[in-house]
Amino acid sequence: MRRVVVTGATGTIGRAVVAALHTRGDHVVALSRDAERARAVLGNVEVHAWRSPTRQSPPSAALDGAHAIIHLLGEPIGQRWTAAVKRELRDSRLRSTRLLTRAIHARATGSPPLTFVSQSATGFYGLHGDAWLTEQSPPGTDFLARLVVDWEHESLAAAAAPNVRVVVSRTGVVLSSHGGALEKMAPPFKFGVGGPIAGGRQYVPWVHIDDVVGALLHCLDTRAAAGPINVVSPNPATNAELSRALGHALHRPALLPVPGFVVRALYGEMSMTVIGGQRVSAAKLEGLGYVFVHPHLDTALRDVLSAAA
Ligand SMILES: NC(=O)c1ccc[n+]([C@@H]2O[C@H](COP(=O)([O-])OP(=O)(O)OC[C@H]3O[C@@H](n4cnc5c(N)ncnc54)[C@H](OP(=O)(O)O)[C@@H]3O)[C@@H](O)[C@H]2O)c1
Repeated sequence: MRRVVVTGATGTIGRAVVAALHTRGDHVVALSRDAERARAVLGNVEVHAWRSPTRQSPPSAALDGAHAIIHLLGEPIGQRWTAAVKRELRDSRLRSTRLLTRAIHARATGSPPLTFVSQSATGFYGLHGDAWLTEQSPPGTDFLARLVVDWEHESLAAAAAPNVRVVVSRTGVVLSSHGGALEKMAPPFKFGVGGPIAGGRQYVPWVHIDDVVGALLHCLDTRAAAGPINVVSPNPATNAELSRALGHALHRPALLPVPGFVVRALYGEMSMTVIGGQRVSAAKLEGLGYVFVHPHLDTALRDVLSAAA
């Protein structure tokens, strides 16, 4: 039985990852700032408190003997980016990853080989037009891109420790029935006032939650998986196509365009994550043998929305 540590285990992705690991028979060790709440949320898994991931080392009792760590914690991106929020967005990711990487370097000799799958985001690439983006494409220069570059740098430092394989999972916009992007996108459509945003021509690197979980576990299990790997569907859609598919899945019209300035007024600088486009390739993940469960937008959306109903 493998011992797999999961940070951010109570989040949208973390809960799904914990459930999948548990179902396939791995021993899951969840880390949370609030262990009691995590136990209530996650049920029958070993939970350890990591109360202050920006200031304290992760609990060594949790990491001892671990075969893998899936590192998912981070202050939510989908909120207005005040100066204080920006600080927390960076600190929660960079400092926690640095502390985790240090703990990985300090592991006792004789510890089992370790796979470190550390979350990243397609925000790495910044704003782009229609050009396909692969793991070799250069990073962007906006706030989010710089954050992700620094975050990946902290994660990849773990690879200098002996017997450690590191994957940074550059994840796109996750479609899930609990939390995530759809929680914000779906309500206007339900009221019949949804539509394409800022012209709708920008690409959205969407991915179904089952494929995020599938891809993370595939990276865990596949020795050839290393370095940055895009976790996105092989069929990115434009924002207009996503709006149409969402309207269709909800049996509502998707006709009311939302001008970019409205989104900017609502969300400030964070709006660039919606207004800007990225056409991200899943070729590396597929080349590693991963087969998508939900490669097509219409069926992916129908699946997620029926689970939420
Ligand atoms: N969902 C997406 O579309 C998407 C796409 C690309 C990348 N990502 C990244 O993937 C990771 C997980 O995403 P998610 O959607 O599952 O996130 P989430 O639902 O917001 O959960 C993240 C978890 O991190 C912990 N956390 C939240 N704020 C924190 C803070 N300020 N300091 C320390 N810990 C904090 C929380 O766990 P406790 O309260 O139990 O400690 C929370 O359950 C995040 O880093 C996110 O940016 C997500």
